[in-house]
Amino acid sequence: MNENNRLIEAFKQTNYQVAGNGIRDIQVLKEALRNYEGHQESDIYGKGKIIEDFQKKMAEYLGKEDAVFFPSGTMAQQIALRIWCDHEGVSKVAYHPLCHLEIHEEEGLKELHHIEPVLLADKSRLIQFEDVVNMGEGVACLLLELPQREIGGQLPDYQMLEAISAYCHEKGIKLHLDGARLFEILPYYKKSAAEICELFDSVYVSFYKGIGGIAGAILAGDKGFTKESKVWKRRYGGDLISLYPYIISADYYFNKRINKMKMYHEEAKELAGLFNQCHGISTKPVEPVSNMFHVYINSPKEKMESILIDIYEKTGIGLTGYLREIEAEACFYEVSIGDQFGNIPKEGLIKVFQMLDESMKKIKE
Ligand SMILES: Cc1ncc(COP(=O)(O)O)c(C=O)c1O
Repeated sequence: MNENNRLIEAFKQTNYQVAGNGIRDIQVLKEALRNYEGHQESDIYGKGKIIEDFQKKMAEYLGKEDAVFFPSGTMAQQIALRIWCDHEGVSKVAYHPLCHLEIHEEEGLKELHHIEPVLLADKSRLIQFEDVVNMGEGVACLLLELPQREIGGQLPDYQMLEAISAYCHEKGIKLHLDGARLFEILPYYKKSAAEICELFDSVYVSFYKGIGGIAGAILAGDKGFTKESKVWKRRYGGDLISLYPYIISADYYFNKRINKMKMYHEEAKELAGLFNQCHGISTKPVEPVSNMFHVYINSPKEKMESILIDIYEKTGIGLTGYLREIEAEACFYEVSIGDQFGNIPKEGLIKVFQMLDESMKKIKE
């Protein structure tokens, strides 16, 4: 067994796991279905109470005229950008070089729609107001991802968001929100979802990140926009005859976890603080602004895997099941806090970080 497999195996054997909402097994759906009667009608091709009620609920929550349920955010966002490009009669959008569309979607936007992206900012930082002002002519839509996942989940300050929104509005550039983790940032901004979404023409949110559902996304905007998005959903093959397993789980876990986001944020700050006290370890951002952050470790990946396995075996507490190499001498991984953090015995957690710090000190010697 290589180190990578050993780490994930050791992680799976732990009694407590620091991040996430628990194992993504079939129980996730079974729990969500618990209160449903078997004879309840399913949705059919985007129609029916189950889908329409949820769409209405999310439109209200996001403060938008209308909302459409999609099987995935990938599908919803490519469609949103295509609609805005068609409106403007240009095929150019702007976004961050590490946004989901650019690095995780196999060039879907370019291959399927021939839309050209303008990459704003460099990979290591957030998009600033100046980047938007300097992005050049002919951009139909600017996509902002809040928080910017690939750089640890960082956020611009709210005044910057307002300034970007006002500028786009003035210049006739549509502003789209990749809000895969929108719910998770509300406690930091101390704003409602509707207040933040008001700054944007269209919004996507996800139900399987902090919310912890199975899959699924909502795309929201004005009625003309959502009507067009339904046509594209059909063209994409996303208008499944029934989407209710995703909708029921999205609704169930939204209700279960939406009010826990503040707690997850506080816990993320607590955990990041523990990492930052360890030799050779730091988090990005230093103080998390949501339930997520990245952990940077000044140690070769293989060495760190052995250290973590030893800690897991001795404490029964697991920090992560994977590490990614950055360079020969450093690695990192992502943390997203969910329900599991609250279950960890405090003494156990202190022990984990004592052991981690001791091991890191030895590496440095
Ligand atoms: C920031 C961001 N945008 C979009 C997506 C796409 O979501 P989906 O997996 O539903 O296609 C993800 C998924 O990880 C994401 O993290």
